[in-house]
Amino acid sequence: MARRKIYQIGDDTLRQVSKPVTEFDDKLSALMDDMIDTLVYADGAGLAAPQVGVLKRIFVATFDGGRTFIEAVNPVIVEAKGKRVAAEGCLSIPNISEKVERPRHVVVHAFDRHGNPIVLKADNFEASCYCHEIDHLDGILFTDKSLRRKNR
Ligand code: CO
Repeated sequence: MARRKIYQIGDDTLRQVSKPVTEFDDKLSALMDDMIDTLVYADGAGLAAPQVGVLKRIFVATFDGGRTFIEAVNPVIVEAKGKRVAAEGCLSIPNISEKVERPRHVVVHAFDRHGNPIVLKADNFEASCYCHEIDHLDGILFTDKSLRRKNR
């Protein structure tokens, strides 16, 4: 495992659309281990592959301070219900916190690092996190959606 550089806002890499993962191989596993390492070191909740400069549809997340991890490859939101407004931050946008409206509940279909299908059901903070990370895979940053921006 190795920590990777976290790309910061202003870097064009963060604005690209990531490609689906097609090879569930050792290289993918190594990347995901590095992403977890990077996430823990940065003390974040979620990290998407483009944030470490890899344009592949992958994110990792932790909701218990780095004890257990959610890993999602090729995630797709298949269900979204309700609305919730909450402040978000991003490891690629230091020292900024802005309110974003997200679904209160989401169901995400994805794959684990071995290519097995997984279903992630989440509410509230976790739902917002999944939406935030999946946005990264489409080159979207939370500041694009913040209510502050909408009201400007
Ligand atoms: Co982010």
